[in-house]
Amino acid sequence: MQKTDFLVIGSGIAGLTYALKTAARFPDKKVLVITKAAADETNTKYAQGGIAVVNDLENDSFAKHIEDTLIAGDGICNEKVVEIVVKEGPERVEEIVEWGASFDREEDGDFKRGKEGGHSEYRILHHKDVTGKEMERALLESVSRLPNIEFVNHCFVIDLITQHHLGYLVTKSTPDIECYGVYVLNLETNRIEKILAKITLLATGGNGQVYRTTTNPTIATGDGVAMFYRAKGRIENMEFIQFHPTALYEPGLLGQAFLITEAVRGDGGILRNKKGEAFMERYDARKDLAPRDIVARAIDSEMKKTGTEHVWLDCRHFSREKFIEHFPNIYEKCLSIGIDITRDMIPVAPAAHYSCGGIKTDEWGRSSIRNLYAAGECASTGLHGANRLASNSLLEAMVFAHRCFLDAAEKVDKITLNDALPDWNAEGTSEPREMILITQSAKELRQVMSDYVGIVRNDIRLQRAMRRLDLLWEETENLYQGSTLSPQLLELRNMISVGYLIVKGASFRKESRGLHFNTDYPEKSSLVQNIVL
Ligand code: FAD
Ligand code: SIN
Repeated sequence: MQKTDFLVIGSGIAGLTYALKTAARFPDKKVLVITKAAADETNTKYAQGGIAVVNDLENDSFAKHIEDTLIAGDGICNEKVVEIVVKEGPERVEEIVEWGASFDREEDGDFKRGKEGGHSEYRILHHKDVTGKEMERALLESVSRLPNIEFVNHCFVIDLITQHHLGYLVTKSTPDIECYGVYVLNLETNRIEKILAKITLLATGGNGQVYRTTTNPTIATGDGVAMFYRAKGRIENMEFIQFHPTALYEPGLLGQAFLITEAVRGDGGILRNKKGEAFMERYDARKDLAPRDIVARAIDSEMKKTGTEHVWLDCRHFSREKFIEHFPNIYEKCLSIGIDITRDMIPVAPAAHYSCGGIKTDEWGRSSIRNLYAAGECASTGLHGANRLASNSLLEAMVFAHRCFLDAAEKVDKITLNDALPDWNAEGTSEPREMILITQSAKELRQVMSDYVGIVRNDIRLQRAMRRLDLLWEETENLYQGSTLSPQLLELRNMISVGYLIVKGASFRKESRGLHFNTDYPEKSSLVQNIVL
C-alpha cells in the first residue's frame, strides 16, 4: 500500500502540468504520478498542429478567439469557461515556454503562427508538426527535476475507492461521495495494490480506441471516464465524439492512424474527391477551413457518393522546402509509403480523434466526487460544447490543470487519509481460459461503434448498437467476475462502458448539433441542453 498527498493519474499535458505546480508549491508533500504505459505514451505526445492562443494583440483579440470557440461549439459552450480559457491561456503558454518547450519563431524572434479550421486568425503556436512531442519532452524534463514527484509507470488504475468500498450503498443520488484513493494493477509485479490519497486528479485522456480507426494511441481507452462512472460520478455530453477529417488512409490499417494535421489545410492544402473536384466549397463558405464537424461530414458524404474509402488532400502546389520546414514528420511518413507530396495527393479519411464530453467539472476542475478533480481530455469543462475548436485542447488542459492545482492547494491540509479501507478482494478468480475472447470482444465493440455510432447516426443504428453493447457487457462482466485481472480485460470493460455512455448520450439527444448528426432529427432543437449521465 502507498500513501500520498496528491495522486495524479496520467502523464499527459494535464497530469504533468498539475504535478509540476503542486510539487513546486509543496516541496514537503508527495506527488505520485501513475501511468499505465511508458511515461510519454500519451495523446499529448502525438499532438501535431499546436496550441491556440492569443498573444499577438495587434492582429488578434480575445474576443475573436472566444467567438471562434463559441461558433465551433454550436450553441452549448459554457461562455464563462470559454472566457476563462482564452484569457488565462497566454499565461499558461508563457509558463510552458519557461519550462523549456520551444515553439517555432520568425527571424525577428516572434512566434510563427499557424491557422486551422474554424479560426478567424493565425494563432496556433507550434513546434513544426510535432508540437505535442516537444511539450511532453519539456514537461517530463521539468518533472524529473522535482524530487517530491514520484513516478510509477506500467501501473493500471482499476477503480476509484469511495464509501462503496467501506460497505455503504452509493448511488447517483448519494450526496458527498468521497474519493479516498485507487486500486491499481501493478503490471511489473502483477499484484493489485491500494493507494491512499488526500487528493486525486484524473488526467487519463481520451477514448478514440473505442472506434476502429483513430488518431489516438492504444492507451486511449477512456479508463478515467469509465471508473468515474462506476463510482457514480456525473458524466456529460459523451455523444460529441470528434472525428478528425484527415487521418492518413492506409488500406487495411486498423487502430491508430497517422494524422495529417489540419495545419496543412491552414497552409493551403485542398481536399479533393475521387474525380479531383475541390468539393468543400459545396458544403461551407469557409471551404477546407470550416470547423471539423462540417469538414468530416462533407468527406463522409463524398466517400459515400463516390463509393471510395478515402478522399485526397492535395499539396502538390506547395514548395517542397516550405512543406518540409513546417511538416517534416508528415513529409517523411508519406515518403515512407511511397507518397511524394509534391507529386502525389495524400489519401485521407476521417478517424475518431477527440472526446468533447467526459467527467463533468466546474470552473475549478472539481468533479461531482469530493477530493477528486479531472482535467484534460477526460474532463468536460464546458469549453468545447458540441464541437471542439482545433488546437483548443492543449490550452484547456493547461488552464484547468492550473485551476485544479489552485483549488487543491487550499484544501489539502484539511483532508486526512482514510486508513480503514479494505484490500482488493480477488477471491474466487482464476486465469481466463482464452485471452482471445477478450481480443474478439474488443474487435466487435469497435465494429459496432464505427458502423452504428460514427459521423452520421440515426435511431435504428443507435438501438442496434445498444443491444449489441448489452450483450458484450454481459459477457465481459461474467469474465471479469471470474478472472484474474489483465490490462486487456480492464480496458475492454472500460471501453464497453464508454461505448454505452456515447450511445446513451446520442440516444437522448433528439437533434443534430455540432458533432452529433442524427438523420432522424436533422435540425437543431430550440432546447439547449447538456446531456448528463
Ligand atoms: P493524455 O495526454 O492522453 O495522457 C493520458 C495519460 O493517462 C497517459 O499517461 C496514460 O497512461 C494515463 N492513463 C490512462 N488510463 C490510465 C489507467 N487506467 N491507469 C493509469 N494511467 C492511465 N490538441 C491540440 O490542442 N492541438 C493539437 O495539435 C492536437 N493534435 C492532436 C493530434 C493527435 C494525433 C491526437 C491523438 C490528439 C491531438 N490533440 C491536439 C488532442 C490533445 O493532444 C489531447 O486532447 C491532449 O493531449 C490530452 O492530454 P491529457 O493530459 O488529457 O491526456
Ligand atoms: C491537428 O493538428 O490537426 C490536430 C489539432 C487538434 O486536434 O486540435
